[in-house]
Amino acid sequence: MRLRNIKNAQDIISKSKYVVLNPKEYRGKMQQLFKNNNKIEVEIGMGKGDFIINKARLNPNINFIGIEKYASVLVKAVKKLENVELNNLKIMNIDADTIDEVFASEIDQIYLNFSDPWPKKKHANRRLTSPLFLDKYDKIFKNDKVIEMKTDNRNLFEYSLVTLSQKKYLFEEIKLDLYTDLNADNIQTEYEKKFVSLGLPIYKLKARCQIDKKN
Ligand SMILES: C[S@@+](CC[C@H](N)C(=O)[O-])C[C@H]1O[C@@H](n2cnc3c(N)ncnc32)[C@H](O)[C@@H]1O
Repeated sequence: MRLRNIKNAQDIISKSKYVVLNPKEYRGKMQQLFKNNNKIEVEIGMGKGDFIINKARLNPNINFIGIEKYASVLVKAVKKLENVELNNLKIMNIDADTIDEVFASEIDQIYLNFSDPWPKKKHANRRLTSPLFLDKYDKIFKNDKVIEMKTDNRNLFEYSLVTLSQKKYLFEEIKLDLYTDLNADNIQTEYEKKFVSLGLPIYKLKARCQIDKKN
């Protein structure tokens, strides 16, 4: 990526009404961004945005926040949103590493779609379902912790089943080939379209860790 292109991407991003430029200022008060008390759901690693944009379109009573590490990728989502009117969508150019510095006990659900698998053991902490990340998510969930994940990567899927189980999540859905029994409400991501067209199986899980409100 040439530097000039990155600068252009940042210029375009900074002018979009969907982009929150100073997300840490809204920590603990994300609802101010939407001016309502509806649930807030976050997609980490939203890429070019197909999933989160369509989620917001189809669920006007839920607020959605997409986060993406690279401006050069996020700019593609910003361009898709140029002539779109959605009051329930915001996007942020942040690294998930800082997620607990940006949100505080205010998120209802997290989506992880085709996250980077980081196959080498020495990079395991970078996987978005590593114990390190699950600990960060603990700090941003409001009530029950709910994580929905889709991936083409069997090793990452198996790893995530283990790490989530260790953190006392229970599984509401586990699919080893999503497209053999596809829910009508499935929303495809860009990577999903690519893998499905290649005939590869898509793995999906939905996990919940219930919070005992008496404690
Ligand atoms: C393989 S792509 C999948 C994109 C999209 N979710 C999809 O399914 O089409 C992974 C995306 O996650 C982003 N990403 C990876 N690590 C991240 C992190 N730590 N914080 C935020 N975004 C991250 C990457 O830049 C990339 O856009």
